[in-house]
Amino acid sequence: MKNIFRTKPIESLLAETKGKNSLEKSLGAFELTMLGIGAIVGTGIFVLTGIAAAKYSGPALVISFIIAGLACGFAALCYAEIAAMVPVAGSAYTYGYAALGEFWAWIIGWDLILEYAFSVGTVAIGWSGYFVSILGDLGIKLPDIITKAPFEGGLVNLPAVAILVVITGILVAGVKQSATTNNIIVAIKLAVVLLFIVLGVRHVHPANWHPFMPYGWKGVFSGASVIFFAYIGFDAVSTAAEEVKDPKKDLPRGIIASLIICTVLYIAVSAILTGMVPYLKFNDTAAPVAFALQQVGINWGSALVSVGAICGLTSVLIVMLFGQTRVLFAMSRDGLLPRVFGQVNQRFHTPVKSTLLVGIITMIIAGFTPISVVSELTNIGTLAAFIIVSASVIVLRKREPDRPRSFKVPFSPVTPIFAMIACAFLIINLQKVTLVRFAVWLVVGLIIYFVYGNSHSVMNDEDLASTQDAAK
Ligand code: ALA
Repeated sequence: MKNIFRTKPIESLLAETKGKNSLEKSLGAFELTMLGIGAIVGTGIFVLTGIAAAKYSGPALVISFIIAGLACGFAALCYAEIAAMVPVAGSAYTYGYAALGEFWAWIIGWDLILEYAFSVGTVAIGWSGYFVSILGDLGIKLPDIITKAPFEGGLVNLPAVAILVVITGILVAGVKQSATTNNIIVAIKLAVVLLFIVLGVRHVHPANWHPFMPYGWKGVFSGASVIFFAYIGFDAVSTAAEEVKDPKKDLPRGIIASLIICTVLYIAVSAILTGMVPYLKFNDTAAPVAFALQQVGINWGSALVSVGAICGLTSVLIVMLFGQTRVLFAMSRDGLLPRVFGQVNQRFHTPVKSTLLVGIITMIIAGFTPISVVSELTNIGTLAAFIIVSASVIVLRKREPDRPRSFKVPFSPVTPIFAMIACAFLIINLQKVTLVRFAVWLVVGLIIYFVYGNSHSVMNDEDLASTQDAAK
């Protein structure tokens, strides 16, 4: 058994990004902010708001959004500090390696696999729902057998698989192309969210905000844990670190700007949504934003929002799938996963093999699993990752106080500690079954690490070299 708490020096992390297996540097602060918004605004606001309002928060949905937003804000500051200091693909996984050691890095990488793969699955299933409903509006009815998972009365969710085939292709073709595609889609998405705000605000009836907290504070907290999903994605900005032209400046800007823009939009949308329609009515819909406009008689607006939501969900898929491939890329480059997935294709300058692997796994998840099973796991994996990143900030400040930091978390260690407490609080407000599933996932991860990763880690070669040097 090799030392499981060995850490990677930041110098060696940075050196690994040079040479044959390096990624093309093509992204600036604007592209990163768009990448962030592309990942953030999606199923959370377009789909989960209805569930959270009807079942947990009631009209206090807006408070749930503020609570989850605060937790993410603290965590985002921590992400920004480390991402600018260690601009290497892999995000929280890589930061964990530098600060806390290989074992924690593996755990966090394993959590991120959960976060990205399952959120891609969740969003693809949501995409399929909107797609089927728009086709229905046009008078085309697809049979359940090709639009639902086996346990929901179908055989395979074909539209969900099909959209993932398209997006995997875009990512294989290269980051420049996918960033441009993302920019266009994000613009459409923001336009429909603003359209909803402008159209909806005139139909707000304050009477709908009473009772404000029908399920009490417990409901508001559970609602915050559910709609936390809506904020996931700003961390995906940091997974693109190696492809950023000036990471020290652009990464903090991209992470913080995308989170602030989305938080403002969410607060506005959730307040208007619950003001337009009595919260219990959201029980009956999978498309609450479009539904609210329909309820007040603005059908054209509802149709436009549906089309925009499809675009929005598409851009979330692009960024999440992109993030997943970069995490696998980093883990396999370190030897913790088979190295074949760390190779960069010389023609496309992208990690083609890991992109294809992720594409196929997420197609299986999206095609054959009910949305309820996959959506719950995404939040817990992400919250666990946020906790470890926040801890890494404190550890690195102690261990390497003199290393230049182009962005510093204000009031450290208080802010990182707040981030950890807030994320842990959201975790304990998730359903118990989610905690159990997460524990099973971690046990599987530990087995893989001790059977494969620990003995294949490239750190073994470095340990050997330093032992030989010492013996000379
Ligand atoms: N935040 C992303 C969404 O809501 C994952 O779809």
